[in-house]
Amino acid sequence: MHTFEAIRTRRAVKHYDPKFQIPPEQEQELMDLVRQTPTSFNTQNWRFVKLTDPALRQKVRDVAWGQAQITDASLVYVVCGDLSAYAKDPARYMVNYPKEISDMYVPKIIEFYEGKDWQQRDEAMRSAGLAAQTLMLAARAMGYESCPMIGFDSEAVGELINLPSDHVVCMIVVVGKGIEPARPKGGYIDNEEVFIENGF
Ligand SMILES: Cc1cc2nc3c(=O)[nH]c(=O)nc-3n(C[C@H](O)[C@H](O)[C@H](O)COP(=O)(O)O)c2cc1C
Repeated sequence: MHTFEAIRTRRAVKHYDPKFQIPPEQEQELMDLVRQTPTSFNTQNWRFVKLTDPALRQKVRDVAWGQAQITDASLVYVVCGDLSAYAKDPARYMVNYPKEISDMYVPKIIEFYEGKDWQQRDEAMRSAGLAAQTLMLAARAMGYESCPMIGFDSEAVGELINLPSDHVVCMIVVVGKGIEPARPKGGYIDNEEVFIENGF
């Protein structure tokens, strides 16, 4: 599927065939594509927790307004962010750079995030959002449907997946075989409100 078509036909689909499983090789390809998503300083601070245990999926559904996507979609990922990724041996994020470049960048990474909770959290959300979009467009290009989700109790989901204290839950993304079309598009606000030239 052409990229433009994948972008135009991706929709937030809410009902999935619970019997359908995405073949492992396609799942692997999706993950390889997701890994192409850019991150600031190449920190790759996203973490994808795949929910496969049916009992766990039901518990997550229970704290997600009962939304059926969680139990029925073939792939369900809790997209998390590692808030301390910047400090965890940052030289590994640039092993292929010349040493003088990585020696210059490593202290910059630390300085950029250290002690700034808001910056660490923003970075987790930015990375998760970009990765989620890569996942959804790649899935669409393979002919699958997807849904980004934040309609759940983040704290409860964190507990259910044993979220480490220096990580944050960003969103859930499900992918699978849709069985009902998405609702009609909600509608678009005016371009003038969205695209601004040279400042507000
Ligand atoms: C961050 C985010 C969270 C969302 N959470 C939910 C959700 O919990 N459940 C749901 O059914 N749709 C959810 N949506 C889907 C939006 O309602 C949908 O993307 C929007 O209405 C536009 O429709 P479209 O994606 O089909 O173009 C979410 C979308 C985003 C981007």
